[in-house]
Amino acid sequence: MSLVSPDRELLPLGEPHRQTLPAPCGPRSEHLVARLRRRSHELGELPAADPGDDPLDGDDTALALHILYELHYSGFQEVDERWEWEPSLLAARRVLETELEGRLVDLVGPPPIGLDAAEVGAALDELATSGGGPSLSAWMADEGTLLHLREFAAHRSIYQLKEADPHTWGIPRLTGGPKAAMVEIQRGEYGDGDPAEVHSTLFAETMRHLGLDDRYGAYLDRVPGVTLTTGNLISLFGLHRRWRGALVGHLALFEMCSVAPMGRYRDAILRLGVDPRAAYFYEAHVVADAHHQVVGRDHMAVALARDEPLLGGEVVFGARALGAVERRFAEHLLGSWSRGASSLRRPLDIDLGDRSG
Ligand SMILES: [Fe+2]
Ligand SMILES: [Fe+2]
Repeated sequence: MSLVSPDRELLPLGEPHRQTLPAPCGPRSEHLVARLRRRSHELGELPAADPGDDPLDGDDTALALHILYELHYSGFQEVDERWEWEPSLLAARRVLETELEGRLVDLVGPPPIGLDAAEVGAALDELATSGGGPSLSAWMADEGTLLHLREFAAHRSIYQLKEADPHTWGIPRLTGGPKAAMVEIQRGEYGDGDPAEVHSTLFAETMRHLGLDDRYGAYLDRVPGVTLTTGNLISLFGLHRRWRGALVGHLALFEMCSVAPMGRYRDAILRLGVDPRAAYFYEAHVVADAHHQVVGRDHMAVALARDEPLLGGEVVFGARALGAVERRFAEHLLGSWSRGASSLRRPLDIDLGDRSG
């Protein structure tokens, strides 16, 4: 059954919406939220993390970094836009980024040295086929309930309602073939010129059909640090020219690991009897990413390693980092659900009707 139809009926878009600051969940997010409500000024030193709040994906540290990165995207209703380039704020961001980079190296090792383009392609192929942990999509296709689908969409909304934006920072940092390849992928992510087909818009449509709030940032107070880090990672790579190789590796593996899982999420929606329009976002990726995975691997990542041989190791590092944070994300969700617990910091408070089990 093809869900891709230009005639499908769209739900009306909601009012234009700007997110508000989330509730703090520890000393670091508290420090930021209290100060960002005022006109931009000297931020002051960022407090140390609470013991046990892992710089990689602790709830408080990841939320603090997410808040700082959001100033480069939609911002927050109550935050003075001059904060975006306030030097003392950038200094605080640097502390968090240095901690995150250190933990990424702990997890996957430093960028390997001396890889040629063929070795970069082989490393990406291996990462794409080795699985790298429990398959969230396979579990969802076989066992997931409507509640699991909704929680999963709430987690992913943090990234997918701004889908593609963090990778777009890479375009001015590339040249020649890799730049053209990234633009080709991003053009697809942004709907090939059709606003109704922008992937973030399609995801909002999926959320509405799942009975979720599709406003940007609506679930920010509920998602844990392990979720925020999946997005923070791309902003880290995208906002630093020195990480442009890692950004390319991240995007290439992203596209190479999309088709089969997206098909499984589509299948889960159809199996559970949800309105099939909720599956359109996933079906659109099955179609688009069959092309994007080739462009991403061959014309962007391998081509970059050929054009700039010193970046080959970074490309692989970015892909490994993606695999590592996604593995922790999947383990968190599946671990929570296997205990019968919510995977969110605060469970969804929507009426699940009788289709949840
Ligand atoms: Fe997409
Ligand atoms: Fe794609």
